[in-house]
Amino acid sequence: MCGIVGYLGEQEAFPIIIKGLKRLEYRGYDSAGIALMNGSLSVYKKQGKVSDLEEFMGDANVKSTVGIGHTRWATHGEPNDTNAHPHFSADRKLVMIHNGIIENYAVLKQKLILRGHEFISDTDTEVFIHFIEQIQIDNQCELEEAVRIALTEVIGAYAIIVISAENPKQLIAARKSSPLVIGVGRNSQEFFLASDATPIIEYTQDVVYLNDHEIAVIKPNSLQIKDIGNKPTTPYVTHLEMELESIEKGGFDSFMLKEIHEQPNSVHDCMRGRLNAETGHLQLGGINKYLEHLLNSQRIIMLGCGTSWHAGLVAEYIFEELARIPVEVEYASEFRYRNPIVHAKDSFIAISQSGETADTLAAIELAKKEGGTIFGVCNVVGSSIARTTHEGAYTHAGPEIGVASTKAFTAQVTVLTMMALMIGRKRGNISDTQFSELLYELETIPAKIEKILQLNDHIKDIASEMQHAENALYLGRGYNFPVALEGALKLKEISYIHAEGYPAAEMKHGPIALIDEAMPVLFIAIKDNSYEKIVSNIQEVKARKGRVIAIVTEGDDLIPKMADYVIEVPATYDVLTPLLTVIPFQLLSYHIAIMRGCNVDQPRNLAKSVTVE
Ligand code: M6R
Repeated sequence: MCGIVGYLGEQEAFPIIIKGLKRLEYRGYDSAGIALMNGSLSVYKKQGKVSDLEEFMGDANVKSTVGIGHTRWATHGEPNDTNAHPHFSADRKLVMIHNGIIENYAVLKQKLILRGHEFISDTDTEVFIHFIEQIQIDNQCELEEAVRIALTEVIGAYAIIVISAENPKQLIAARKSSPLVIGVGRNSQEFFLASDATPIIEYTQDVVYLNDHEIAVIKPNSLQIKDIGNKPTTPYVTHLEMELESIEKGGFDSFMLKEIHEQPNSVHDCMRGRLNAETGHLQLGGINKYLEHLLNSQRIIMLGCGTSWHAGLVAEYIFEELARIPVEVEYASEFRYRNPIVHAKDSFIAISQSGETADTLAAIELAKKEGGTIFGVCNVVGSSIARTTHEGAYTHAGPEIGVASTKAFTAQVTVLTMMALMIGRKRGNISDTQFSELLYELETIPAKIEKILQLNDHIKDIASEMQHAENALYLGRGYNFPVALEGALKLKEISYIHAEGYPAAEMKHGPIALIDEAMPVLFIAIKDNSYEKIVSNIQEVKARKGRVIAIVTEGDDLIPKMADYVIEVPATYDVLTPLLTVIPFQLLSYHIAIMRGCNVDQPRNLAKSVTVE
């Protein structure tokens, strides 16, 4: 949560920082701020979005070649102008931007108050910068040394950038558990800092990912990195392959809509070079060294949050069917505080779009400590989870910027399906024919998604009927029970309609009491092995005057006679149906949210990447 940007070089810093903040707004958008070094330190900050900050700054003097900017998702202190970043030290000679949480800030604050410090905001960040200032006074040291000492004492997560009025051509940055990327531009003469690479790639594709406990000291023509033990390290430059157009809206009204429509391509990209039905080839290049371990797993534990957890639930069904290995799916946020029993032959699969989710990272650390072998399924290349797991497979879905996850889900399910197929094949659980048929069918999925996307207008009509609902119930069985959960999550997070997902058979154990004329009930009622049972569930809802919206298999002539609305999806193997049935739910939520006047890319209270607990 929170996005940070910095620039030091010869170009004008202001436009680079503002554009960068807009690209990072998905990380938080309750206030924004900027500090520019132009003779002295000028700080501007405002509650609201980056555009509110721009408007507030009007025609302020923004001439400067060094600056930092922040877009906030509030943790300590409500969203207002005062709590917005950057924050000053007591003498106003230092400013800091920060993404993360300092857990021992209250203790530090008390100590600083006793030393005469006064605080104007409610934030942990203001305490952090005052703490650095006090260390510098006490030790009469350089700023970088004061930052280093401070980092040995703060507890929590941070990605920070600090500027000092006394050293105007210098940025000091550091990270622990919150991401920070440094772009190296024009023959190493200029540097771009950001929470992810999206604000950087317009200027350079050469980046250095700062590691936990590292401090970077950036000056004109110089990038020095050391760890908090003062040991220097050589910056490792990675060349990114990201295209600028992949992070722009490309003619769509929102990132979410663009990302929904990208799914035929993103699912295809996810399989590219890994799967070829014609030759029977299926290989995930990232899983090599630990492949034997994975194949001999006595249990697989999926870790994730939100939509990624739902992908893990889908994978539970798929792995058990194809790989015949028992699977457990854990909320990372719960697992991290358990006292887990980990066997040497367990494998963990950590699923995360951003690769930065704090709970998932902490769960991985715990699993590792207990001797687990961890595989990552991440979208963001070079992200913390991708780097901390033993091995893994990227989803290659391209940047996902809309806060509601869409293409990341289908890409995660695709990678996990390929993994299950690969394991099942190598363990001898799948026949040659079954393997080949599934590979051929997987290759048809992008075209089938495309066909569903063409139902957009029909889905929009259904959205218009549903837009005033206050509650909704999503029901599915087997592979599609997790899709019911995902459909409900999509509706809640962007339209603010209360929605619940259930296994359809559970309806009679409670949720059926909620059904009346006002309650839309969304069924996944495709022709799979639970079709007859779902038909009975639909009848039970109709008998109680519920409004039924059913996702059915093309050509179904029974359910259309019972349901109020149907959305047809092409037939496929049961195991692959979640890749299709989720698409109508994504479009439906999108249209309902737009009709209700909601901002689908930046829903209230949410952030794309949850890097705090
Ligand atoms: O980046 P991650 O996949 O680790 O994020 C996990 C969740 O925060 C995320 O899926 C969240 O639930 C989305 N807003 C869902 O649309």
